[in-house]
Amino acid sequence: AIQRTFSIIKPDATKRNLTGAIVAKFEEAGLRVIASKRIQMTLAQAQVFYGVHKDRPFFGELCDFMISEPVVVQVLEGENAIAKNREIMGATNPADAAPGTIRAEFALSVGENSVHGSDAPETAAAEIAYFFSGLELVG
Ligand code: CMP
Repeated sequence: AIQRTFSIIKPDATKRNLTGAIVAKFEEAGLRVIASKRIQMTLAQAQVFYGVHKDRPFFGELCDFMISEPVVVQVLEGENAIAKNREIMGATNPADAAPGTIRAEFALSVGENSVHGSDAPETAAAEIAYFFSGLELVG
């Protein structure tokens, strides 16, 4: 079925001018960018967005990283978009990411791993609504 998923191009990638190269990977795989904006995330926004990880040892580091440079938040639409995006991104740790994936090609470490993508339909819906209004999604 046609799905929507939420994506973040993270600070390590925006800083190295990789926004276009990453979007090209999405588009080549058949995902369509139906919303996109470059933002400077606030600490409060990062803490709420990653709230599920608040008890993890890397939470502070993760939030500091996400506000260290601008990010590009996007909504991607396509057939099986959630799983497809996860496939294109590759494993969270670039050392484990399959060749050709975004993280294999561009990520620097498990923290500086270039992209975020929703992991399930419920989180996709919540993450999209956290950063975009319905009017900003132009399919
Ligand atoms: P993301 O998909 O954005 O969701 C949570 C993030 O936490 C994950 O990608 C990683 O970038 C980050 N993360 C996971 N494990 C670690 C770790 N050990 N150290 C720092 N960041 C981590």
